[in-house]
Amino acid sequence: MKSLLIVFSYHHNNTQKIAEVIAKILHAKIKTPEKVEPEVVQEYTLIGFGSGIYSAKHHKSLIDLADKLPTVHNKKAFIFSTSGITGKDKVIKDHLTLKEKLQSKGFVILDDFQCKGYNTNSFLRFFGGMNKGRPNDKDLENAKNFAKNLKQN
Ligand SMILES: Cc1cc2nc3c(=O)[nH]c(=O)nc-3n(C[C@H](O)[C@H](O)[C@H](O)COP(=O)(O)O)c2cc1C
Repeated sequence: MKSLLIVFSYHHNNTQKIAEVIAKILHAKIKTPEKVEPEVVQEYTLIGFGSGIYSAKHHKSLIDLADKLPTVHNKKAFIFSTSGITGKDKVIKDHLTLKEKLQSKGFVILDDFQCKGYNTNSFLRFFGGMNKGRPNDKDLENAKNFAKNLKQN
């Protein structure tokens, strides 16, 4: 299985920390969206797309890349993110824009992962931010198990 993670993480490198754990389990390369030639996805059997959540969706660079990807045939993919607020319904909403674009290109989304990330956006910085210390060890463990599960299935 040849895996690639396409990741954009800038605010506090929160998503990058999750990506590194997943990459280790899947023996995957990590690339930023800017460094990915759209056609290259054809070379991989499994592709993970991840970033922080900014204004209720993935980073624009990831969404723009999704628009440029070629049509694929049942290619396996997964979506992950870190965000200020998490929850069962929240992850569905946060991942929807990217998910719909990928599905329209023929990707099959196997699973989703989201956890909290340190957030000092806007006024939050005056109060020390929210979710300080996240992702924490437990989040990294959950990401590890998520990746193991992908590998097994
Ligand atoms: C400009 C901006 C917008 C954000 N918008 C949201 C949002 O809509 N919903 C949310 O839950 N978190 C939001 N956050 C928090 C980030 O998703 C969170 O801090 C994430 O872990 C950042 O990931 P990164 O460090 O990988 O960039 C926002 C953060 C920034 C900087």
